[in-house]
Amino acid sequence: MYRLASRLVGPQDVSAFNAGPRERQTVKFEGALTAEEAAGLFDFNRLQQAISGPGAPAAQTDVYRVENLMRLSDIIKKSGTSALTAIQDLVRIGCTIRFRDVDQYDRDLAGFARSVAETYAADAQVNVYFTPPGQNGFPPHFDNSDAFIIQVAGSKNWLIHSDYTESQELPGPDVDWDPVRFRPVGPATPLILHAGDVLYIPRGVMHSARCTDEASMHLTVSLTPLTMLGVLEMELRRLAAEDVALRRRVPWSVAGGAEEAAAAKRQLRKLLGRLGEKVNPSAAFEEKRANLAKAAASQSNVFEEAVATMKAR
Ligand SMILES: [Fe+2]
Repeated sequence: MYRLASRLVGPQDVSAFNAGPRERQTVKFEGALTAEEAAGLFDFNRLQQAISGPGAPAAQTDVYRVENLMRLSDIIKKSGTSALTAIQDLVRIGCTIRFRDVDQYDRDLAGFARSVAETYAADAQVNVYFTPPGQNGFPPHFDNSDAFIIQVAGSKNWLIHSDYTESQELPGPDVDWDPVRFRPVGPATPLILHAGDVLYIPRGVMHSARCTDEASMHLTVSLTPLTMLGVLEMELRRLAAEDVALRRRVPWSVAGGAEEAAAAKRQLRKLLGRLGEKVNPSAAFEEKRANLAKAAASQSNVFEEAVATMKAR
């Protein structure tokens, strides 16, 4: 699993990827995995098992039809059919199926997500997309997390848009997607993914997808790294617990003017200078390591609980 995770970026070292294109550039790693390795990561049978298995809520599954998004749980409620029958019917009429957090329902994918998280030092989460041939894909958008798109079966066309209105490099989690505010500008680079190809897209890079004339299944492994802001926020909270100066009110008043603001600015800058000497990312790293270990443990619990439910039947 660790070998596969590090090979998502081709034959280069992960350290070379971190120092090079990571967070800077969209890269296609052609043939990063063999078609057999890609198929071994996930396939339609495992998707069916995950969907119909115990504990897999239909609420995790979304259905796209010509740019409209529906929840599978709502469709099942209306039609009265099983999740699996509903999905088969929906795929037959050309819908794209997205199963979110599939790593929580498939033990092998849970292990893979964990190895990706550790290899790239980031939280990792896996969605799977299944699209029948010749259908619409996804309209231009960007995501707030970096993504490894791993083609596990069939093929898919992608467009990487060079720019868009109000674009911001590496947008934070608070930047909500808005198709009116963010519109593609200028040329777009087309590329096609075949089984075993991996596409790395940094957060904030606009992309769109279209189907080919064959069915497609891909995994999107979303990476949420620890950012400078994230470490500083964690550190400020830790230091605030030790230092009452951070917990005091800022002296200001509603009617206050420039002088009052200037005094507060001097005070805040002095405080930041003093705190700057104390900043130490080790505690944040330790907390993150512990969280990754805890996530790994809870992922395996979901599986063990599912097996226990099956045995009880
Ligand atoms: Fe996306």
